[in-house]
Amino acid sequence: MSGVLTRTCTRYVKIFSTLFTQTNRHRYMSKTAHSGEYIRRFISENTEIVGEKSLTPEVKLRLFTPGCRFWRERPELWPFDDPYWAIYWPGGQALSRYVLDNPEVCRGKKVLDLGSGCGASAISAKLCGAAHVVANDIDIVAAVATHINCELNSLEPPVCVTDNMIGSEPQGFNLILLGDMFYDEALADSLYIWLDHCIKIHGTKVLIGDPGRAQFESHDIRRRLQQLAHFELPETVREENYGLTSSSVWCYQDWT
Ligand SMILES: C[S@@+](CC[C@H](N)C(=O)[O-])C[C@H]1O[C@@H](n2cnc3c(N)ncnc32)[C@H](O)[C@@H]1O
Repeated sequence: MSGVLTRTCTRYVKIFSTLFTQTNRHRYMSKTAHSGEYIRRFISENTEIVGEKSLTPEVKLRLFTPGCRFWRERPELWPFDDPYWAIYWPGGQALSRYVLDNPEVCRGKKVLDLGSGCGASAISAKLCGAAHVVANDIDIVAAVATHINCELNSLEPPVCVTDNMIGSEPQGFNLILLGDMFYDEALADSLYIWLDHCIKIHGTKVLIGDPGRAQFESHDIRRRLQQLAHFELPETVREENYGLTSSSVWCYQDWT
């Protein structure tokens, strides 16, 4: 796990940074050696169905918990890249809560959940009647997790894209959702430029969920955002994310 993310200091991140420090060979293997069926079975065997203690108890998700084998297992046995998809991040929780509370934001819209992880925001958009939902995550395991999580919620899966879309020619999305995507400075910089482009070309609405991470609060993008909602995190989520007590949703404005 990247040093930058480690500095976000969530309990999960601390645990993951110990558990999942791997060699490049393992990472390469993970991209090439495993079939979708293997990944699906692995996720089912190494996660638990949770969700009721999050900000969106109505959404069920398969996530990593202390009851799972790899909470304690030797790191070299972990066969994939770092499991961001196995956590429901506080930024994604606030964003999904906001979407579920304001279904008109998504209803009938073409929605992109960028950095979708477990797929919770994409699932929320589908639950609110979005016309078309794309879940984009560069980790192929996240795409399989999103499929599984959609099934748990009796939904057809969204279109899952695993290419890096940041910097690509903007497509005509009405809405882009970003849950906890401002944990890394370089990623935040490239997002800022690309989102600006999407807004200018297609008038895309951009919603960001973030629990007040330092990299987010100090970034230039912050001056272009209007706060839409603020949520106190449930006790369990606070315990799992040292130092984080709340999470907000922001709308990216084009004020130029
Ligand atoms: C902190 S997690 C947030 C996941 C989810 N949005 C949530 O809030 O629960 C960040 C996610 O972004 C993904 N990611 C990182 N860089 C990306 C990129 N360039 N394009 C798409 N996804 C990316 C990671 O694989 C990871 O799943």
